[in-house]
Amino acid sequence: MNRTRRSILRALEAGPASGPDLAAAADISRAAVWKHVEALRQQGFSIDSTADGYVVTDTPEYGSAAAIEYGRTPPYQVRYYDELSSTNERARELAAEGAENIAVVAGRQTNSRGRLDRSWKSPDGAVSLSILLRPDRPPAHAPLFTLAAAVATVDVARSLGVDAAIKWPNDVIVPENPDAGYGGRKLCGILTEMEGEADRISWLVVGIGLNADIDAAELPDNATSIRSGIDGPVDRAEIVQALLAAFDQQITDLDSVLDAWRDRSVTLGMPVRVETHTDTITGIAEDIVMPGALQVDTGDGIETVHAGDCEHLRPNDRHKDNS
Ligand code: BTN
Repeated sequence: MNRTRRSILRALEAGPASGPDLAAAADISRAAVWKHVEALRQQGFSIDSTADGYVVTDTPEYGSAAAIEYGRTPPYQVRYYDELSSTNERARELAAEGAENIAVVAGRQTNSRGRLDRSWKSPDGAVSLSILLRPDRPPAHAPLFTLAAAVATVDVARSLGVDAAIKWPNDVIVPENPDAGYGGRKLCGILTEMEGEADRISWLVVGIGLNADIDAAELPDNATSIRSGIDGPVDRAEIVQALLAAFDQQITDLDSVLDAWRDRSVTLGMPVRVETHTDTITGIAEDIVMPGALQVDTGDGIETVHAGDCEHLRPNDRHKDNS
C-alpha cells in the first residue's frame, strides 16, 4: 500500500483526525489528504467526516493488504493477491528478486503444493500464506521454522476456541479425543522450502495452509476447519495478523521452539508408525530432537527419524503391527 495512505490509516487508528492535522503530519496538502481518503474508501474502508475529523467506522473484508494490516503493525510486509497459483511459488519468485520479510497472502490458490510433492486442496475461505525470510542460520536449522509455524498456528487456533495440537512433523490437527491421542482431522499443513549455501540459509519460505472459513463438507474426510470448530464468524484478516505475530514471536526465540512444540504435540508418548522413503518404523514416539527429528523407541532401541509420514496407532494396531 502507498506509504502516505498507510500513515493516514495509522493516524486514524488512534482516533479522529482532521484534514489539516493529517496534511501537516504527512507533509502534504489538504486536497491530497482528501484524495487519499477517497482512495481508502474505494479500497473498502468506511471513513466518515465528522466534526472531530475523519473517523474509520468500518474496515474492508479480507481482500487487501490494508485489511490485513489495519489495527496492527505486522512484522512482515504484506502482499495480498486475489488469486495465485501458489503463495510459496510467488514467495520464491520474490526471493529470486532479492526480497525478504514479506508475507504473501492469496485469497485463493489454483495450484497449491503440499509436502512430499503432493498437491494441497485450497478451497475458498482458506488462509493461504507464505512468509519469506533470510535468517542468519545454517540450512540444517530450517526445520525449526516449520515447527515455529506449527506452534504459532496451534496458538492462534486455540485463541479462537479450536482445540488444536501438533502431529509430527508439522500437521496441525484437531484430535478426535485429545486424551487418547489417535484419530483427528487435519486443520493446517505447512510446507517449508529453502535455498542455502553450505553454512547459511539464503532464503526460506514457510507456507501455511489453514482451513479457516470453510465448510467441512468441502474438505476431505480427514480434514476440518476453524469454521467447524466455532460458532461465530471467522475473520481471515484477523487470523493472518495473529499468525504473523505468533510466528514472529516464535522465531525470535528459536532455542525454545522444541519445548514449545513438545507442549503442543499429541505425538509424544504415542505408539506410531512412520513411513520414510526407505523404511517403516513402528514404536513409541519418545521425543523430538534438533532440528525436528522424531525419536522412536522400537523396542530394539531408539531410531531417529528426520522425515516421513507419521500415523498415530491405537494400542491394538501396534500389537497387530508387531505380530
Ligand atoms: C502439507 O502437505 O501438509 C503442507 C501443505 C502446505 C500448503 C500451503 S498453502 C500456502 C502455501 N502455498 C503452497 O503452495 N503450499 C503452502
